[in-house]
Amino acid sequence: MPEHPATRTTESPDKHERIYKLDRRAIQILRENEYGDYTLPTRGLYPYQWNWDSMFVSLGFAEIDLDRGWKEVESLFEGQWLNGMAAHIVFRRDDPSYFPGPKVWGTTHYPATSGLSQPPVAASVVRDLYERDPILGHERLKKLFPRLMAWHRWFHTMRVVSGGAAIAVTHPWESGRDNSPDWDEALANVDATGVSPYERRDLSHVDASMRPTNADYDRYIKLVEYGRGTGWDHAQITREGPFAVADPGITFILMRADRDLLALANILGEKGAEYEIDKWLWKRGSAADYLWNESLGAYTTRNMRTRLYGEGVSSVAFLSFYAGLSDPERDPRLLENLERLCGAVKYSVPSFDPEHPKFDSKRYWRGPTWAIINYLIARGLKEHGYEDLAQKIRLDTRQMIEHAGFFEYFDPCDGTGSGGKDFTWTAAIWLAWASPSVDTSFPVTRLL
Ligand code: DGY
Repeated sequence: MPEHPATRTTESPDKHERIYKLDRRAIQILRENEYGDYTLPTRGLYPYQWNWDSMFVSLGFAEIDLDRGWKEVESLFEGQWLNGMAAHIVFRRDDPSYFPGPKVWGTTHYPATSGLSQPPVAASVVRDLYERDPILGHERLKKLFPRLMAWHRWFHTMRVVSGGAAIAVTHPWESGRDNSPDWDEALANVDATGVSPYERRDLSHVDASMRPTNADYDRYIKLVEYGRGTGWDHAQITREGPFAVADPGITFILMRADRDLLALANILGEKGAEYEIDKWLWKRGSAADYLWNESLGAYTTRNMRTRLYGEGVSSVAFLSFYAGLSDPERDPRLLENLERLCGAVKYSVPSFDPEHPKFDSKRYWRGPTWAIINYLIARGLKEHGYEDLAQKIRLDTRQMIEHAGFFEYFDPCDGTGSGGKDFTWTAAIWLAWASPSVDTSFPVTRLL
């Protein structure tokens, strides 16, 4: 791989100044979007606490205020249900600028939450926080550990279908990748007739060309109505509901989080938990087999009702490395796909294959590059020895942020910032990973 221009280290004082400025701006964004012990993804578009947003934000806080990083995780678990689910949104209050708010979800949890979950990055984040300062972290880890166990157990029981191992999402929102082409086939089978009238609020914050279509939205709301109608019976929703799709994104993130949880169980001497997590991890080979799409040479989604595979390669396919999976036959094909996807655009990693007719460089999860996914992919690649590729992804992330600012996502073709601006998770990923001041070789002390 040719050397990326940004790896050349002729650092000018100007450049240092710019980095200080961006670091400072990122810290400011975290602080501006803070709301007590949790943080809003961005003001306007997302006025509550979102599950995986918060966890990436915690990594950002850990760079400047470790105690605040822990609080972000602890506050998320105020939204944990008795059945173990950590909800995807914790509302706490009603903000009319967002739809669908707590009344539409109609859950019985207090504080009010949505009725589904989101990719479980929490255990991996908790491990990172703990390792930064085991003394500060020990008591906090002890309190959070049973909650993390309960959430993982919920996934392994409530989001798998009879004897299977791959984790299903029962709503595109649960995957965190709302309008990915990965859901098109399954979503087309959701009958949206009779959906209650509603008014979208997202379009008053962000341009419609960057957001899901109205046809998608009708189905999202119809699925919420279905869940509410079951009294949020998660077993029934997964087993019989109108939408259940095995997702490599959530499956690989959980696999990684299981391994991190096992390490935490070991630290705490939780033998029973270790045994239970081992059983989950034992099934990871069959989860991977289920999701492997031989004709595309990548892991793809798979509709649990029709058994059909996703029609194209999404960036989450490459999270297998992050999950800790390695396979001598599959890895070269995956890497070939990764190089192809990245080679077709200017800024890696596009969320969907740029050579596929459904690619759309601006529309949310149908093409744009996301800093958080880049971070996860690169971390996995680095752990498996693909340092150059990992570094390219990191430098691309850095350049997009340097050029466009802390946007929610970026057009992979020209790096334009899209979606919400001053976005907390992008600022957090900057601080934790993309900023040059994270390089140990780069002698910059972060100015607070
Ligand atoms: C939204 O409202 O667009 C969110 O993605 C749902 O979590």
